[in-house]
Order: sequence, then structure tokens, then C-alpha cells
Amino acid sequence: MKLLEKIEILDAGSEGNAVARHGDMVVFVPYGVPGDVVDIEVFRLKRSFAEGKIIRFHQLSENRIEPFCSHFGLCGGCRWQQMKYESQLHFKQKQVEDNLKRIGKFDNPLIRPIIGSDKTQGYRNKLEFTFSSRRWFTGSGESDSSPALGFHIPKRWDKILNIDYCYLMDEPVNLIRLEARRYSIEKGLSFYDARNNTGFLRNMILRSTTMGDLMLIMVYQNDEPDVIFPMLDHFMQVFPQITSMFYVINEKKNDVISDLEIRHYSGTQFITETLPPFRENHSPVNFRIGPVSFFQTNPEQAGRLFRLAAGYLSPEGKEVVYDLYTGTGSIANYIAPYVNKVIGIEASASAVADAGVNAELNGNTNLRFFAAETEKLLSPEFISTHGHPDAVITDPPRNGMHEKVIQTLLTVLPLKIVYISCNPATQARDMYLLNNRYTLIECQPVDMFPHTQHVENVALLSLA
Ligand SMILES: C[S@@+](CC[C@H](N)C(=O)[O-])C[C@H]1O[C@@H](n2cnc3c(N)ncnc32)[C@H](O)[C@@H]1O
Repeated sequence: MKLLEKIEILDAGSEGNAVARHGDMVVFVPYGVPGDVVDIEVFRLKRSFAEGKIIRFHQLSENRIEPFCSHFGLCGGCRWQQMKYESQLHFKQKQVEDNLKRIGKFDNPLIRPIIGSDKTQGYRNKLEFTFSSRRWFTGSGESDSSPALGFHIPKRWDKILNIDYCYLMDEPVNLIRLEARRYSIEKGLSFYDARNNTGFLRNMILRSTTMGDLMLIMVYQNDEPDVIFPMLDHFMQVFPQITSMFYVINEKKNDVISDLEIRHYSGTQFITETLPPFRENHSPVNFRIGPVSFFQTNPEQAGRLFRLAAGYLSPEGKEVVYDLYTGTGSIANYIAPYVNKVIGIEASASAVADAGVNAELNGNTNLRFFAAETEKLLSPEFISTHGHPDAVITDPPRNGMHEKVIQTLLTVLPLKIVYISCNPATQARDMYLLNNRYTLIECQPVDMFPHTQHVENVALLSLA
């Protein structure tokens, strides 16, 4: 193993690892902070980069702070917690700028200062915990036989870290998780063993809204009402804050529940999130969230993101807007009152069903949703049937837009494209491909996930 001595950490990389340089070689190290001077033990050496871990600090960065969570370092959930929040925002902004310059080939893009999250703890509205018959033992990196209820160790499907306290969601989420573990141990219920696909208790999912709704979904391996119902009744009694309760029987080897029957047990069938409207004289926008519906996980920042997208659209009322990768139609429903018509395209049929429900809930009648892959559906023929878009909003997954979608946009030429992205690299690549016909007016990064490396960026492109 190679040792690199007294190396300065230079940057905070997009995968959550810090970045250093040794000659021509880029070195990725977890848990470094730009400004640290460290010794690095290299454990993987490739032609142009290396991966290593910090084994000694010579100088601690001014950007560094003490992480507040006792699980930091093992859990893997909040990898930037040892960095001051202002520094996190700085490096997220830099990530956007670097990608626009390096991949997008934009010389001097106008990037507004990143919008930070007011809440840097308790900002999430959804967490999934996993039961495991053996907890991953924190001290020695081994497991022991006490049961765990917590998070997966990064990249380890069978290793679960028992969580004492998680700062990502507001109470009573920690209290519910701790009580679930205590109750299960007291009743002698078996925790899941992922290697052998045995054990009764599998997952616990909690979802909340800013309106105070709280949904609990319990996932069990076997259908045993005599055990399940008393457990759910117990939660109902101890935590009257739970407004909606479901359970699922999952006998499969994987944890996916969207293909299983989700059984309603008590309370409401869904929870409701409400966001302030784009313009003050309109009604707030409501979103119905069922047990498997997608909704943005930082609702306060989602409100800002949608407002920003609508602001870039600057609608006057006559526009035909296409919302590509529309998910549950959140943005489509948010902008619907201010435009003539919205066409939403989304691959997931269940998300499209939710989008329709949200349209009804908000009294929006000028929306149409299509369940299809954008690259297969969006064509000049489709557009001649449903109307030429004055503007396109696009919010693709991390791998960005399919080349065919970009080609169609370059044929159809909407006046504006509002490109929302959770991956500045693929966004920069796609905007480079649009560069011939579109001018990048400006970008606005938004921090949806404090203490992580993730950054959302909204870009406004105008037909040249
Ligand atoms: C970043 S999310 C968009 C979320 C949405 N704007 C919202 O706020 O609800 C990306 C969405 O793209 C969908 N998706 C992935 N690949 C797709 C494709 N090829 N065509 C259409 N939709 C796709 C995913 O199911 C997901 O809902």
C-alpha cells in the first residue's frame, strides 16, 4: 500500500469524497475537508486516479466542524457533516460551476448564489429503517447478535447499523423507531436475516408532511394478524400523532414494496402536503401522498424549487407547457393555474395516476398526463397532436435526458427550456448539446439535502 504524506485536500467531490492531488493523479478520500493537510493510505491505484483513506491529520481545515451525529462516519447518510454549512454551500455552488465550465463548455455562466435550506436538520419527510437480526457493530467493524433497526451501511445490502438518534426527520420519528425495537424485543419477535431471507420484521417507513400528517408503513415477512394487529394498535395508542397506518407482507428477497399489496390498517388512506402558491392571490397547492407515491423529500425547499421554475417560466396565461419526467405532476399542478395547458410525461404509471389525483384535488382541468418513456413518446407527431410547446420544463433522473429527447427539442424549438437537475454533470452535458440553438440565461442552485454532496440546479435556456 502506498502512503502519500502531507497532502492538502483541495475540493469536495460530487460522490461525497474529498479530492486531493498527487502530481498528475487525482486522489479521492472519504471524510476529508478542503483545507485539511493529511497522510493518505492508497488502497486502489488506477492510471489517472487513486482512492485512499486518511490515516493522519497534519492540519485541520478552517471549514471543518465537529459532526453533531454520533453515527457519523459509519452510517454514510450525511457525509459532509464535518463541514461548516456555509462551506457545504460553497462547494455545491462550485460543483455546478465546474461542471458548466468543464462539461458544458460555458465560459462565464451566470450562476446565482445557491439557495440554502433554512432547516439543516429534520428537513426530510421520509425515512425507511430496516430490521436486522444482527447489528453491525460500530466499534470493531463486526456484527453482533443484538437486533438492529436502522440504516444500511453504504453499499452493504446485509449490514444494518442500529440507529439511536437520527437528525434527518423531526420527532416523533426517533421515538417511534426506538419503541418499535423495544416492543419487538420484549415480545420476542424475530428481526429479518437478509442472508437467509428469514425473520418476521422487515422494514419501517415513516412519511410526514409540513401540515402535521404522519404515515407509518410496517413491512413484515409473514401474514400473522395475531401479532401484527396488536403491534399496530400499540403504535396507535402510544403515538396518536400517527394519522395514517399501513402494513405490507413481503416474502421476497428485496425490500421493494411498490409491487405488493399495501394494506390500510387505520387513519387516513393518504397524507396531504400543501405548498404556498406561485402567486399570492391563488390557492395553496395540495398534494395527496399515498404509501408509495413519490414526493420531493425536502418539502420547504421543494416549494422554493417550484417557485423558481415557475418564475423562470414567467407565465402570462396563454402558454402551452410540457413537463417532461413529471413524476406525480407536482410542478405541472403547481404551474397549471397560470398557463393555458400542461402536458406531463412520466415513465411510472403509478406516478401518473397520482398526478391525475393531484390535478383533481387542485381543480386543475388543463392538464394531461401520459405514462411513457419521454424518448419514446415525445416526437414532432405527438407535438402536432397536443400543441406546440411555448416552454418545456424538464426534470430528468440523474442520468439526464435521452439524446432522442434533446433531438426532438432541437426540432420543435420551444422558446424556453427550464431544466431542473439533481446531477450537474449530466445537466451540463445536455445543455452543451442544446447550445447551438439555446442560450443559457442563468442558473440557480438549490440545496435540498444539507450535509450531503447532492445539489439541485435549475437552469433557464432561451431559444437563440
Ligand atoms: C427527478 S424525478 C422528477 C420529479 C418531479 N419533477 C416531481 O417533482 O415530482 C424524475 C422522474 O423521471 C421519471 N423517469 C425516469 N426515466 C424516465 C423516462 N425515460 N421517461 C419518462 N420519465 C422517466 C422517474 O420515474 C421520476 O419520476
